[in-house]
Amino acid sequence: MIIAITALKGGVGKTTTAIHLSAYLQQKAPTLLIDADRNRSALIWSREEKLPFFVASQAGATNLIRKYTHIVIDTKARPEAEEFKDLAQGSDLLIVPTTPNHLDLDATFKAVEQLTPLNVNYKILLTKVDARTRSGEDARRALEEAQLPLFKAEIPLLVAFERASQKGVIIRDYSDPRSHVAWLRYKAVGQEVLP
Ligand SMILES: Nc1ncnc2c1ncn2[C@@H]1O[C@H](COP(=O)(O)OP(=O)(O)OP(=O)(O)O)[C@@H](O)[C@H]1O
Ligand SMILES: [Mg+2]
Repeated sequence: MIIAITALKGGVGKTTTAIHLSAYLQQKAPTLLIDADRNRSALIWSREEKLPFFVASQAGATNLIRKYTHIVIDTKARPEAEEFKDLAQGSDLLIVPTTPNHLDLDATFKAVEQLTPLNVNYKILLTKVDARTRSGEDARRALEEAQLPLFKAEIPLLVAFERASQKGVIIRDYSDPRSHVAWLRYKAVGQEVLP
């Protein structure tokens, strides 16, 4: 399965989602994460070789692709319209992470406007949901009212995600009391993608 993680906004959790979805898929079958962002965030995360799957750059992936069952592609923020279209048409599923922040949601609705005429398979994922506010519920309601495809699972706002990336591990392998619950959320996302 080829899954691309994309959004018109930066900082919405694309790389964090790509990393954790790859970790889930790797439990099912060999999974390659392609870092197609010039910032090389996923490659930097993988530098210490503590991730349970392989990360390659776009240029370095050519020879590897056929060896893997699942391919996850992490992309840069704000892709050009043509790039967005290519990515959508070249993947089995496009995951569009968004935080409940209204600017991020607005960008998500704009992404949907671009995706709808392409007739591609996409699904929106709510990320960085702050349990102390109702913003997550409000965002979910707005997306549901617009009848957009949305993951049932959502990702909580948790500093441990940032710490895990600094340590070069996935959240499951980061020692924090809330890490296990946070991993279960990404696992639930994975189960919606591939049960
Ligand atoms: N659920 C979360 N809770 C708290 N912090 C998070 C969460 N997900 C991601 N972050 C942090 O938010 C920042 C942006 O996340 P990430 O790099 O995954 O987003 P991105 O969409 O890939 O960004 P970019 O557009 O720069 O590539 C990072 O510092 C990351 O550690
Ligand atoms: Mg990124």
